Amino acid sequence: MSATHAPAGVSFLPDGTFQDRVAVVTGGGTGLGLEISRGLAALGADVTILSRNPEHHTALLEEGTRNGWRVTAGTIDVREGKDVSRATAELLERTGHVDILVNNAAGNFVCPSERLSFNAWRAVLGIVLDGTFFCSREFGRSMIEHGGGQILNIVATYAWTGMPGVVHSASAKAGVLAMTKTLASEWARHGIRVNAIAPGPFESQGAAGNLWPDEEWAERLRKQVPLGRFGTAEEIALHCLYMLSPASAWMTGECVVVDGGSSLTPSWWNAGEHVKRKKDA
Ligand code: HXC
Ligand code: NAP
Repeated sequence: MSATHAPAGVSFLPDGTFQDRVAVVTGGGTGLGLEISRGLAALGADVTILSRNPEHHTALLEEGTRNGWRVTAGTIDVREGKDVSRATAELLERTGHVDILVNNAAGNFVCPSERLSFNAWRAVLGIVLDGTFFCSREFGRSMIEHGGGQILNIVATYAWTGMPGVVHSASAKAGVLAMTKTLASEWARHGIRVNAIAPGPFESQGAAGNLWPDEEWAERLRKQVPLGRFGTAEEIALHCLYMLSPASAWMTGECVVVDGGSSLTPSWWNAGEHVKRKKDA
């Protein structure tokens, strides 16, 4: 395992933490999904990444070959139930079972709600909400048969705070949060843990392209993060790996926020400023 190929802090988990685990990461070829996939593979898992564009798979596949990792890729659109069923059947044919599913694939862009077309709404709801359920149902069935497993969903804090300009994504992520808690409760009897993580803004090509298209926007957003910077995909992935590891074996139905304080109420007063009582003013 090399620090340049896996999330930098991945060594905080013992070598072989995910040995012989079969993992699926949707959108596992880019951004956060890529870092989670690298971490799982570096720690011994057999990882399959699933997304639309095969060009996005090359980096992990090449890295896997160089490092002797077990990594495979499949081309699917998670909005299409038949694609998800086909990918599940292909994986099960090869491995017999699946232990870990990371529902990471997403689509997003900023658009005032009154201008959002029906098709644009459907595109994002389809990827985030339908895709998460389709994958959970298909891979979840195998986990039930096999006697357990775990699912990690990637959401965003605006699932409960709301946020202007992203009604499609916020609504979809809120649905995924409800799905997380529902499936955690429903499938606990099968030994399946279902959790979520809500990252704050972190650098990725998809986020940069759709949410902060130039440096001026990025800087405006960074200034709103109490800890003063965007996160990195690597550091968010570390939390994901911890949540997927045996160290989190008693955690289910939970959503962990890792956002540099972004979702805290913005200060009404300047930090450190003393507001005098009226009688002392
Ligand atoms: C308004 C838009 C639009 C935009 C697309 N549409 N982009 N409307 N503003 N910027 C509309 C199109 O006009 C079309 O509607 C409909 O959406 C579908 O567009 P397509 O391009 O045909 O869709 P598709 O090829 O399926 O692509 C899906 C996508 C795209 C979601 C639109 O952006 C994508 O593939 N994104 C994947 C990567 C990504 O978004 N990553 C960001 C993750 S960050 P009409 O009516 O014209 O047909 C994240 C959380 C961030 O999720 C949280 C920060 C805290
Ligand atoms: P990203 O690199 O754009 O990742 C999105 C991935 O989803 C891509 O690999 C894409 O691959 C895949 N995907 C999109 N539509 C798909 C579809 N229909 N079927 C299958 N795969 C599809 O963005 P990211 O920033 O790393 O986002 C990862 C996760 O973090 C997402 O759930 C996102 O909502 C969440 N998140 C991100 C931020 C942030 O600031 N970046 C903040 C909070 C939460 P293909 O193009 O190959 O299909």
